[in-house]
Amino acid sequence: MHISLYRTTIWLFCCFTLCRAKTEPEVLLVIACPPYPRQAQDECFALAGSVREQHRQLNLTRDIALGNYVVKVHVMHELFNYWTLLDALPHLQSQTSLVSKRTEWIIWCQHNTQVASLRDLLKHLRYQDHDELAFYGHALYDSEATIIHHFWHYKDPRWFPYPMLSAGLVFTGSLFRRLTKLVALNAQNNSRPSEFSIDASHELARFIFDNIRPDDDGDHPEHRVAALSRKIILKNVPYICPMAITTQSPKSPTRGAPSCALYAKPKEPYVPGLTSTTLGDRKKHCVHTTGSHIYFAIKTCAKFHKERIPIIERTWATDTHYRRYYSDVADDGIPTISTGIPNVQTGHCAKTMAILQLSLKDIGLQSDIRWLMLVDDDTLLSVPRVSALLSCHNHSELVYVGQRYGYRLHAPDGFNYHTGGAGILLSLPLVRLIVDRCSCPSASAPDDMILGYCLQVLGVPAVPAAGMHQARSQDYAMELLQLEPPVSFHKFWGTEPDYTYSRWLGGKLGNRSAPLTADRERSAAAPAASVHLLGRLPVPGGGVLPLEAVLESSGKHLDL
Ligand SMILES: *[C@@H]1O[C@H](CO)[C@@H](O)[C@H](O)[C@H]1NC(C)=O
Ligand SMILES: *[C@@H]1O[C@H](CO)[C@@H](O)[C@H](O)[C@H]1NC(C)=O
Ligand SMILES: *[C@@H]1O[C@H](CO)[C@@H](O)[C@H](O)[C@H]1NC(C)=O
Ligand SMILES: *[C@@H]1O[C@H](CO)[C@@H](O)[C@H](O)[C@H]1NC(C)=O
Repeated sequence: MHISLYRTTIWLFCCFTLCRAKTEPEVLLVIACPPYPRQAQDECFALAGSVREQHRQLNLTRDIALGNYVVKVHVMHELFNYWTLLDALPHLQSQTSLVSKRTEWIIWCQHNTQVASLRDLLKHLRYQDHDELAFYGHALYDSEATIIHHFWHYKDPRWFPYPMLSAGLVFTGSLFRRLTKLVALNAQNNSRPSEFSIDASHELARFIFDNIRPDDDGDHPEHRVAALSRKIILKNVPYICPMAITTQSPKSPTRGAPSCALYAKPKEPYVPGLTSTTLGDRKKHCVHTTGSHIYFAIKTCAKFHKERIPIIERTWATDTHYRRYYSDVADDGIPTISTGIPNVQTGHCAKTMAILQLSLKDIGLQSDIRWLMLVDDDTLLSVPRVSALLSCHNHSELVYVGQRYGYRLHAPDGFNYHTGGAGILLSLPLVRLIVDRCSCPSASAPDDMILGYCLQVLGVPAVPAAGMHQARSQDYAMELLQLEPPVSFHKFWGTEPDYTYSRWLGGKLGNRSAPLTADRERSAAAPAASVHLLGRLPVPGGGVLPLEAVLESSGKHLDL
């Protein structure tokens, strides 16, 4: 009797659970959380906490208009360095079986996404069809064909919408499950335009556009012909907003635009010396940093001495203390330092390694220099913003900051690297490690990729800085440039560098070039051609490295 009652109870309980499982649809909120900078992790947990609390409140009010969604929150720590959604998905799904049949909606957030109102979000979802293959977000558009999007649709690049990832992205369960199948580890036949991961949001939108069609079940051949002309593009929805529209005041982010359920949170500016308020707690590890703590190593060559160096001299150079122009030719009029390496069209690996060696010698025992910034002679940057960015990194450790790109992230030999034109920031201990342990497989191998590859092998993470840019201001959507003050841009063609400098980098144009730093003789006397890297094997740690992929890539290196 007792036992039978017990059984009945169990049976009833199971039935109840199953019925619930059947009737209660699920909304999964994923927070893609990078391990660095550390502040980003705090933001991820704050976001998860906020959503859970909002859900708890909603649960109490039992508002029938919201449906009976079960909301799950998952903080996704960046797996295996796969920071793009397409490359993370297979690992995520195989490890956590995150998405089930009853998952109707997936909300993809970043550490800087804000969920202003879970209530509004759920309300909107109720009116959308979760069976449709669709995704929703704030649509960004290119103003012209751009290298960062692989010059796609170069004749008419303006029509294609791609999501602002930091504002949040909503997938139907149908699309998400289809996507998961397509990018599964063993899937061979999906098409990607490139081995490079540059802009994860555009690459995601394009992957969906290229690989998924509304009715391609194969059951309806007559539908299929019609479906060929129909493709899936991002749906722009007003409840997902870029920061620029929602944030009237940081204290009440939704004022003026109460319909924004999701939006991107602008980066908090670093204010030197600020210790109180909420900022203070997060910034307590920051150290006051100025241009005088940074050694700028500028990579140039003879044919650009006259054309490009004057632009640097009248813009950001005025804010530097230590800067050196490293060239293939010593030119006392500037002055430049010869690396002793002949100039090549692409690659520059040997030259860059030589620059790092010569810079270390040049820096010598100057104790105020903490960082080295490696830049091109057509890089524009803001010295105060670079300083602010570095102030919250520890210069005593191995730190590698820049604009992160990925190469073959879907493959076991894939790696991240900081792209050279945006500028590469290295702590001095890291420069020493590189000079010690990294070398070039060939003189014209792509320098930035080899550096990234070597550092990945050495276990030094590539820490991304959102304000750094490999391309020109017009290559990025306005919303992105407004979200975070830009730190750097690259390439002068088709731009007015002085305008870019004052409009986007907060710069003031000087009248004359600042005098180069004191010890001119010492640097001019730096030994040329003293660097012999080429014979050494690039095998840090003594392992055998699959470098073919990197070498093969040198011909395709995305450096216009
Ligand atoms: C919502 O309420 C139900 C029933 O009262 C409870 O079982 C569930 O745990 C609650 N969920 C949350 C997230 O508070
Ligand atoms: C991949 O595509 C090729 C050519 O279209 C086809 O022959 C092959 O069967 C496909 N493989 C898979 C696993 O779908
Ligand atoms: C920086 O790193 C060094 C060495 O790991 C450590 O001793 C120091 O406390 C760190 N400084 C800060 C501000 O975290
Ligand atoms: C530049 O020089 C001119 C003439 O010497 C002077 O009038 C002007 O104020 C200077 N501008 C700046 C920004 O220093």
